[in-house]
Amino acid sequence: MKYVLSWILIASISILFLSNCLQPNVYKEISQDQSFIDKIRALYSSGDTSRWPEPQLHKMALANFSEIGHLPKVKYPQDNPYSAEKAALGKTLFYDPRLSVSNQIACASCHDPELGWTDNKTFSFGHDRQLGSRNAMTIMNIAFTQSLFWDGRAESIEQQSQMPIQDHKEMNEHIDLATDKIAKLKGYEILFEKAFGDKTVTKDKIAKAIATFERTLISPQSKFDKFIDGQANLFTDDEVMGMHLFRTKAQCMNCHNSGYFSNNQFENDGTALLGTKQQDLGRYIVTKNPGDVGKFRVPTLREITRTGPWMHNGAFTPLKDVLTFYNGGNPEPPKKRSTVHEGITLVSKKSEMLKPLNLTPKELQQLEAFLGTLSTRTQRFSPPVLPQ
Ligand code: HEC
Ligand code: HEC
Repeated sequence: MKYVLSWILIASISILFLSNCLQPNVYKEISQDQSFIDKIRALYSSGDTSRWPEPQLHKMALANFSEIGHLPKVKYPQDNPYSAEKAALGKTLFYDPRLSVSNQIACASCHDPELGWTDNKTFSFGHDRQLGSRNAMTIMNIAFTQSLFWDGRAESIEQQSQMPIQDHKEMNEHIDLATDKIAKLKGYEILFEKAFGDKTVTKDKIAKAIATFERTLISPQSKFDKFIDGQANLFTDDEVMGMHLFRTKAQCMNCHNSGYFSNNQFENDGTALLGTKQQDLGRYIVTKNPGDVGKFRVPTLREITRTGPWMHNGAFTPLKDVLTFYNGGNPEPPKKRSTVHEGITLVSKKSEMLKPLNLTPKELQQLEAFLGTLSTRTQRFSPPVLPQ
C-alpha cells in the first residue's frame, strides 16, 4: 500500500512537471539587452520568416495558427467577381443616404474613411439618433473575414450589406422600399448598366455592388510590412521588442495571427459582463450553444490605432487600457460571469489561453509601439457625386 501511494505521488509529480515543460511558459523573461535587440531586428527584417525566433503558442492555438505577415491577395467570390464599374457603383451606394428611411443616414455615416472607416464612437447612433449596443467595426480589410459582425451573424459581405439598411436602429428602411427608391433615380441607370450589363435595379445587385466596393478597401503597406521585407532600420528598438513580445511572452499571437492579425475564430475575452446592463451574449445569440456565451470574433489588429474605442462595446480607450486588461489576465469579476437568459442559466467562461502576463510597464509600452506599426496613414478619399 505504501509503495502504491508513493508511485501515485511520483507519477503525479512527473505529470505536473511534464505538462509544465510542454506548456509554453508565459512568464519566460525576455532580454532587453541591446545585443539581443540587434539580433532579433536582423532576423525579423531578414525577409525570410523561417529565420524568425520560435513563437510561444498555447496548445489550444495551434489548430488555427498561421504566422503574422503580409495580407494575402483578395479573393473575389465566383458569383460576384471584381469589376471597376461594380466597385464604383458600390461606392456610390455606400455614400447614399437615400438607402435609409430618413434619407439622412448612409453606410459612410458610421464607416467614415477619415476615421479608419469607423465612427470613433463607443456606440453608433443611427435612425432618430438611437444608440446601438455595439461598437462600429472598421470595414478595412473585411475581404479577409470569414464571417461578419462581432458575433459572426452574417456569413458573407453580400448578405451583411442588407442588414444595416433594415436594422431599426441603423437605417430602418425596408430593403424593397430602399431598392425602389434607388430604381426611381434616373442617374443610377447608367451606373447599373455599366456594372451589370442592364439597368434594372434589384436588392441583389445593390448587395453585390456594395460588397465589391468593400472588398477593395485594403490597407496599403504598413511600417510593419516594410520592416519585415528588409527595411531593418524602419523600426525603433521598442517596436522590434514589441513585435517579439507579441509573438512570445504577451501571447497575443495565439488569437491575433496571420497577415490579417486574426485567426477568424470566436473567443471569450472576458468581456461579456453577464447579469449587468451591458451584458452581451456574443456568439451564443447566433448558435444558441452554451459554450459560445461571451465569445466574439477575434478582430483584426491592422489599423488598430485608428479604430478606437476598442472591443465590441467600445469599453476601452486609450489603447493602453486594452493592454493593461490583457496583462491582468482579462479579469472577469465573479459577479459578472452568469445570467439567466430565456429561462436558461448561462455562464461566461474566459478562454484558457488568457492568463496574467507579468509584462513590465516598459514591455507594455513596447507592445503598444508595435501595434502602431500596423496602422497606415488616412488616405484622401473623395466622396462620389450622388445620382439624381
Ligand atoms: C448607425 C451606424 C451604422 C450604419 C448606418 C452602418 N453600419 Fe455597419 N456597422 C455598425 C456597427 C455598430 C457594426 C457592428 C455591429 C455588430 O457587430 O453587431 C457594424 C458592422 C459592419 C460590418 C461588419 C464588419 C466586420 O468586420 O465584421 C460591415 C461589413 C458593415 N458594418 C458595413 C455596413 C454597410 C455596407 C452599411 C450600409 C448599408 C453599414 N454598415 C451601415 C454601424 C453602422
Ligand atoms: C484568446 C484569444 C485572444 C488573445 C490571446 C488576445 N486577444 Fe485581443 N481580442 C480577442 C477577442 C475575442 C477580441 C474582441 C473582444 C471584444 O470585443 O469584447 C479582442 C480584441 C482586441 C483588441 C480590440 C480590437 C478592436 O477592434 O476593438 C485589441 C487592441 C486586442 N485584442 C489586442 C490584443 C493584444 C495586444 C493581445 C496580447 C496581449 C491580445 N489581443 C490577445 C482575442 C484575443
